[in-house]
Amino acid sequence: MASTNYDPRIAIVYASVTGNTEAVAEILQEICLSKGLEVELWPINAFSLSELSRYDAVLVGTFTWGSGEIPKEMHGLFEAFEHLGNNRIITAVFGTGDSFFAEFCGAVDRFRDMLFVQTDLAATLKIELAPQETDVVRCEKLVASVENKLAVFPGEISGY
Ligand SMILES: Cc1cc2nc3c(=O)[nH]c(=O)nc-3n(C[C@H](O)[C@H](O)[C@H](O)COP(=O)(O)O)c2cc1C
Repeated sequence: MASTNYDPRIAIVYASVTGNTEAVAEILQEICLSKGLEVELWPINAFSLSELSRYDAVLVGTFTWGSGEIPKEMHGLFEAFEHLGNNRIITAVFGTGDSFFAEFCGAVDRFRDMLFVQTDLAATLKIELAPQETDVVRCEKLVASVENKLAVFPGEISGY
């Protein structure tokens, strides 16, 4: 496993109405903790957008609403990333959706396109409704991708 010589700060910030995305966020938190990573879990309504720049990595979790849309509670976070002016902050975006809809996890796609331009995007992950046992390994891969990026620039990420 790649090792870092500093303690990166990681936040998982998510929106969830019926609990599916929250369940994925909690799996990701468990995986981070099992690797000894310092991680905070924030429902979007409790997260202070002004704190965004204090994290080395942010994992964004969103369900999809309307016709492939980002739910309104995530609009502020989306705009905060657009205006952050820090394309070295490491990000990942995950979400749950229902493939019954034309744009499966469209909100993940919308965040992905923005985060790819505005940040150092490590990974994306789409899950069908509630996470299943087979999704755990996919969550592990997402965390590993974030961890790899954190390991590339140890000590250079914080403090700017
Ligand atoms: C009105 C409505 C619109 C939805 N639109 C979409 C959609 O366009 N694409 C999609 O993948 N899922 C869509 N969904 C499904 C939700 O994103 C899905 O149930 C998700 O897992 C809910 O997440 P949560 O349990 O974290 O709240 C929609 C659900 C509702 C109720």
